[in-house]
Amino acid sequence: MAIDYRVNAPITAQQLSDVFCSSGLNRPVDDLPRLQRMIEGAGVIASAWDSDRLVGVARTMTDFAFSAYLSDLAVCAEYQRGRIGKELIARTRAHLGDQVMLLLLATPEANDYYPRIGFEHMPRAWWIPRKF
Ligand SMILES: CC(C)(COP(=O)(O)OP(=O)(O)OC[C@H]1O[C@@H](n2cnc3c(N)ncnc32)[C@H](O)[C@@H]1OP(=O)(O)O)[C@@H](O)C(=O)NCCC(=O)NCCS
Repeated sequence: MAIDYRVNAPITAQQLSDVFCSSGLNRPVDDLPRLQRMIEGAGVIASAWDSDRLVGVARTMTDFAFSAYLSDLAVCAEYQRGRIGKELIARTRAHLGDQVMLLLLATPEANDYYPRIGFEHMPRAWWIPRKF
């Protein structure tokens, strides 16, 4: 299986929805206009493609100077544990550069994933949750 990696390549809201659905990541998959805003507002979208099928995505907001927030990392179910997630983060980090920190909130299921790929635990993180 040859996976093609791209940064900031065009993706559609439907393709993003399909990856979220297949991965199991809880995102507003039925609200395509909201997904479209999520695509348009992101600074970096790293994507993984099996031919013309989007099979993985890492979506990040950033100022490209100091900080970045990795909001969504998702790999289609049948492609998981094939190093796609790790590669998407590597591509994102390369695009951001060494001056930019990368922050994320892990789902409970993925909490043990991030230390395996180089993230440090940050116990002083705080947030205000969205209402819906
Ligand atoms: C979590 C996710 C993005 C990981 O991507 P992936 O391509 O499946 O994982 P990788 O192949 O890059 O995994 C790298 C290593 O971490 C391990 N790993 C993968 N998922 C893991 C998990 N959930 N918990 C612990 N370790 C995990 C892999 O076995 C691999 O180990 P190895 O280096 O010893 O072989 C993907 O499984 C996914 O989309 N899960 C559902 C959605 C989700 O939880 N997203 C994260 C939101 S914070």
